[in-house]
Amino acid sequence: MALTREDCARLDEADPLTHARRRFILPDGVNYLDGNSLGALPGGVAERVEAMVRQEWGIGLVRSWNTAGWYESPGRIGRKLAPLLGAAPHQVTVTDTISVNLFKLLVAAIRLRPGRRTIVAEQGNFPSDNHVVDSVARMHGMTVRYVPAGAVAAAVDDDTAVAELSHVSYRTAEIQDMAQVTAAVHARGGLAIWDLAHSTGAVALALDDSGADFAVGCGYKFLNGGPGAPSHVYVAQRHHAALDQPLTGWFGHAAPFKFEPGFARADGIRAMLCSTPQMLANTALEAALDAFDGIAMHDVQAKGRALGDLMIRLHDERLAPLGCDLATLRDGARRGNHVSITHAAGYQVMQALIGRGIIGDFRAPDVMRFGFGPLYVRHVDVWDAVLAVEDVLRSGAWQAVPLPGPDAVT
Ligand SMILES: Cc1ncc(COP(=O)(O)O)c(C=O)c1O
Repeated sequence: MALTREDCARLDEADPLTHARRRFILPDGVNYLDGNSLGALPGGVAERVEAMVRQEWGIGLVRSWNTAGWYESPGRIGRKLAPLLGAAPHQVTVTDTISVNLFKLLVAAIRLRPGRRTIVAEQGNFPSDNHVVDSVARMHGMTVRYVPAGAVAAAVDDDTAVAELSHVSYRTAEIQDMAQVTAAVHARGGLAIWDLAHSTGAVALALDDSGADFAVGCGYKFLNGGPGAPSHVYVAQRHHAALDQPLTGWFGHAAPFKFEPGFARADGIRAMLCSTPQMLANTALEAALDAFDGIAMHDVQAKGRALGDLMIRLHDERLAPLGCDLATLRDGARRGNHVSITHAAGYQVMQALIGRGIIGDFRAPDVMRFGFGPLYVRHVDVWDAVLAVEDVLRSGAWQAVPLPGPDAVT
């Protein structure tokens, strides 16, 4: 029997995360399905940032580095989000961006495996990752072997210093088995770096139990930390003593305010820092993490899976006959929290949807991507989005959208 909107409303009533939607400020008339590019605004963040600006900056001034806890904030926020990663707290910090942290981790890993000449990396990974991999390989005179994510485990050999891949694919949402791939890399003596951009806050993670060496994740997607929120970085405790990352700025120094010549690395995860923490962004992210208080990550993953299953079912019933196809896995057990639907006019369809307040994103050449912030997206939102796609296609409304669009960000 075909689903109805009432069926979806009943699923929302039974959803253990229904209450979490009230933790967010969602504009009227907007159906927000873009949590995997920029999470929605959690309640309390604006007030916290305003207080930080007015009190800590405006009145505390430079004293706030000590009195308001600014100096300690990267590690403190890392400890706050470590449970979402399945990581003991002292192994996580927030700092910089994914790409910058990836650069630091790749070089650090290569320095831990001197003499090895190969990097194994994911073919088709988010382009920024592979741009960084290529540059690091050039710097070190190494060879990169690009293979699909599912083939990374088999591609490592005794010459592999490091393997780098996404845990959840930004396109297909396919989840890689972190424990299994990491074990395969270790079996050949290499190290593994995981990109958690589409994982943190979206699926249950167990970095410690998976034996991961290093990981980087995103603050502005499923953690809802705001545009440009700092990335987080994980370094397993066993690598702390020998960690030698290349961006040796003063905040990664053991005693930055002694102003001594020569670099002496800070102990522990603080060695991943380079520069002065960006306190406006840190403040927003720290407050945003309150939205996860008391939330179990297996509920989050189950909700994302249910929303994805629903969209796929509705796609099959309503959109496949109209020229759409799926670019995401059907198997919910191996799928993260987004669904990618392809259509030859995907760009125009997405623009038409955005015009109706249904916001997803577009990934060239033809992918309409819908990301489900599991704390605030409802089953009825998925229903409404699919029916809107159906209407845009059936009515031909997409044909009124000019190509190419004027916006730099899709
Ligand atoms: C999988 C993945 N890796 C890396 C990045 C790049 O992140 P950043 O802009 O923080 O360098 C993104 C951004 O969306 C991403 O989705």
